Amino acid sequence: MTLQLGDIAPDFEADTTEGRVSFHQWLGNSWGVLFSHPKNYTPVCTTELGYTAKLKPEFDKRNVKAIGLSVDELKDHEGWSKDIAETQGTPLNFPLIADPDFKVANLYGMIHPNASDRFTVRSVFVIDPNKKVRLTLTYPASTGRNFDEILRVIDSLQLTDQYKVATPVNWKPGDDVIIVPSVNNEDAKKLFPGGWNEIKPYLRVVPSPKR
Ligand code: BEZ
Repeated sequence: MTLQLGDIAPDFEADTTEGRVSFHQWLGNSWGVLFSHPKNYTPVCTTELGYTAKLKPEFDKRNVKAIGLSVDELKDHEGWSKDIAETQGTPLNFPLIADPDFKVANLYGMIHPNASDRFTVRSVFVIDPNKKVRLTLTYPASTGRNFDEILRVIDSLQLTDQYKVATPVNWKPGDDVIIVPSVNNEDAKKLFPGGWNEIKPYLRVVPSPKR
């Protein structure tokens, strides 16, 4: 069955470039970004992994751990890692799962047989500290993902959890936000003592609590 938002991310054990990982234990109290790659030694994947490595300080600021997956053997990951460091300017600084028997790929529905039964699609799962799936994305093999967008969604999710606000279309960190509909005006007065701009009773805009 397809993994859905709010589901508990399945736990697994796997070999990675940073040793054997027991997924839930490895996540600990962090957020996680689990993402799959169709194949080692492919150009788009190489750029994605290099860029994700560059984003490590941004992930750290948000208490997020990244972990990649490819259905190749661990020994192939090691050779490819050298290419990533050489061509992308940053060595891999997060684990890359070796999943040659498709165990994790099948657990997370990363194989879409009508696209390819041999390689994973580009899946992304954002997982919160309670191990709940908070975002799923599926991209085709030929399109590199926008990892800045993944960070943006994490910023939005963390704001929602902390301040009971939602983020409008094309929101960027620092922009105004919206009081979530489940907060009534009485409670909103306590949460947002500076008030809000009520465009409609259901559209209540406040400055971002985190600027
Ligand atoms: C790539 O990562 O470059 C790629 C992989 C599969 C199909 C097309 C591109």
